[in-house]
Amino acid sequence: MFITFEGLDGSGKTTQLRLLHKWLLEQGHTVTTLRQPGGTKLGEGIRELIVSNKGEAAVGRIDSYTELALMFADRAQSIAEIIRPALDRGDVVLCDRYTDSSEAYQGGGRQLGSETILGLHRLICGNLQPDLTILLLPDFDASLTRARRRDGDESRFEQEHNDFFHRVWDTYRAIATREPHRVALIEGNASIEDVHVRIRQEMASRLFT
Ligand code: TYD
Repeated sequence: MFITFEGLDGSGKTTQLRLLHKWLLEQGHTVTTLRQPGGTKLGEGIRELIVSNKGEAAVGRIDSYTELALMFADRAQSIAEIIRPALDRGDVVLCDRYTDSSEAYQGGGRQLGSETILGLHRLICGNLQPDLTILLLPDFDASLTRARRRDGDESRFEQEHNDFFHRVWDTYRAIATREPHRVALIEGNASIEDVHVRIRQEMASRLFT
């Protein structure tokens, strides 16, 4: 079972992934977790270059297509090294961001278009699709305020303007509308515990029936 977590920076997806991980272990599942970019040695190197706000200071301005290509280089490596072997073993795989992030941030935010990302996904990821994607879209302003409050530790993406994040947001919503069977959209500002319960319900109704 392959489950991905998506949402804007500051949406709380990493907290929710941890809670679900803990719950799945309690239920006796074997679980593999990873984040994108990252997870592999190569991926953590890519993350340092394109997510950290120090990356551009080191290598100069990063072109949008370069950024996209590096996101997919990271993804190819983590599929080969971590995701496929874990799925073959029968693990539940929980992944913090996946191709929907590329579609939302590079396709929408950077305006490279969804078709480009979907084409690369077919080519590079063998079209490997999650069984379930948890998409967290709490209130737009609350997410961004939370993301930007991480003092001095803003990523390159968190420094983007609101217009950029509005495009990311709109693209995420479009993905949820296009693929309602795969994507469970959780909107609004519920408590951490309430969102966790909602995620367990989504899993039960979509994957275990
Ligand atoms: P994330 O790990 O969610 O950051 P944080 O540590 O703040 O929780 O994601 C890192 C950033 O990378 C995030 O701003 C979105 C961006 N990103 C893309 O732009 N495209 C992608 O394909 C992926 C996987 C991430």
